[in-house]
Amino acid sequence: MKVLITGGAGYIGSHTVLCLHEAGHDVVVLDNLSNSSVESLKRVGELTNKCAQFIEGDIRDEQLLNRIFNEHAFDAVIHFAGLKAVGESVARPDLYYDNNVNGSMVLMRAMKAAGVMRLVFSSSATVYGDPASLPITEDFPLSATNPYGWSKLMVEQVCRDAAVADENWQIALLRYFNPVGAHESGRIGEDPNDIPNNLMPFISQVAVGKRAELSVFGDDYDTHDGTGVRDYIHVMDLARGHLAALNYLPKQKGCEAYNLGTGNGYSVLDMVKAFETQNQVPVPYRIAPRRPGDIAACYANAGKAEQVLGWTATMTQDDMVRDTWRWQSHNPNGYK
Ligand code: NAD
Ligand code: WQD
Repeated sequence: MKVLITGGAGYIGSHTVLCLHEAGHDVVVLDNLSNSSVESLKRVGELTNKCAQFIEGDIRDEQLLNRIFNEHAFDAVIHFAGLKAVGESVARPDLYYDNNVNGSMVLMRAMKAAGVMRLVFSSSATVYGDPASLPITEDFPLSATNPYGWSKLMVEQVCRDAAVADENWQIALLRYFNPVGAHESGRIGEDPNDIPNNLMPFISQVAVGKRAELSVFGDDYDTHDGTGVRDYIHVMDLARGHLAALNYLPKQKGCEAYNLGTGNGYSVLDMVKAFETQNQVPVPYRIAPRRPGDIAACYANAGKAEQVLGWTATMTQDDMVRDTWRWQSHNPNGYK
C-alpha cells in the first residue's frame, strides 16, 4: 500500500514508518517538525534500507495537502500529527484546538476531495477520563478533563459523524494507553523537548544523570502500593497495531475505536524497580504531592483489537525498560 503518515518524524510515527517499511509498504511523511527532527527518519532509513519520502509542511495547509494528494495515489492515511502536552494545552487551548482539531478537519477534507477515505487516527486512553471501573472497554463513557483530551474527543466525534454522513469512510480510532520504549536497535526513540512530562522519559533522564531525582506524584492512591497505575505499551507493539489496523481497514465499515494496550497495570514504583533491576542503574526518587488531574489507575481491555484486528501486545515490561534505557544511554541528548 501507499500510505501518507502525518507526524511521521515523531516518536510513535517514526517507529510506525519503520514497521511499514519492513512490511513492504510505501510511505510518504508529512511533518512540520514542530516536535521532531528529520534525523529520526534518516535513522529509520538506515535500519530498513528504505527511505520514506519526507515533506516538511503543516496539516493545516490545505493547498499543500491538495497538492500532495494530487501527486500521490494513497491507499490510506495514518494521522499522528498533533500536539500532546497536557499542561501546555491548559495554558494554550487555542493552539491545541487549531492544531489538533482544525488540522484533522483540513486533512479529512483533502482526503475526501481526493477520494482517499481510509484513516487511522491517533486517539488516546485520555478520552475515558476517570473510568468508573477497570479494565476499560471501548464502550465506556467518554469524557475529557483538559483541552488536549477534548481535542482527541472532538476529532473522534468528527470522524464518527463523517462516517455516518458518508459510508465510504473507513476509520480506525486507535486509543493508545501509555506508549513507552524504543526500537531494539537503540537508534530511534522518544526525544522530548525540555523537561519530560511523562514517566518513562523522566526515569531514563534521571538514570543517565540529566536530572537529579524522579518526583513520584502521590503514594496515597487506592492501588497496590499507593502510586498511580497505568497500562504501559511498548512503542513497537503500538507500531504493529497500526499495521494491523491498516490491513483490516478495507474490510471495516464506518468508524470504529480500538484500545491498544497490554491489559496489565503497573505502578510508578513497579516501573522504577523494573528499570533499576533490568538495567542495573539506580533511579533516585522522592515522594511528591499528587499531580493535579491524575487518576489512580487506568488499564485496557484490548480484546476488541485482538478479535477484530488480530493484534495483541507481545512485549514485556522488561522489554520496555531495557529498550528505553538502550535508547537513552546511547543517545543522552536524543537526536541532537
Ligand atoms: P510526537 O510529538 O513525537 O509526534 C507528533 C508529530 O507531529 C511531531 O513530529 C510533530 O512535529 C508533528 N506535528 C505536530 N503538529 C503538526 C502539524 N500541524 N502539521 C504537521 N506535523 C505536525 O508525539 P507522539 O508521542 O509520537 O504522538 C503521536 C500522536 O499520538 C499524537 O497525535 C498524540 O496526541 C497521540 N498520542 C500520544 C501518546 C503518547 O503518550 N505519546 C498517547 C496517546 C496518543
Ligand atoms: C504516568 C504515571 C503519574 C511523571 C499522559 C497523558 C495521556 C497520554 C499519555 C497522550 C502517573 C506518574 C509521571 C513523573 C510521576 N498522552 N508520574 N512522576 O498521565 O497516564 O498520561 O500521557 O495522549 O493523555 O495524560 O502518563 O507518563 O505522565 O504518568 O510520578 O515525573 O506516572 O502521576 O501516575 P499519564 P504519564
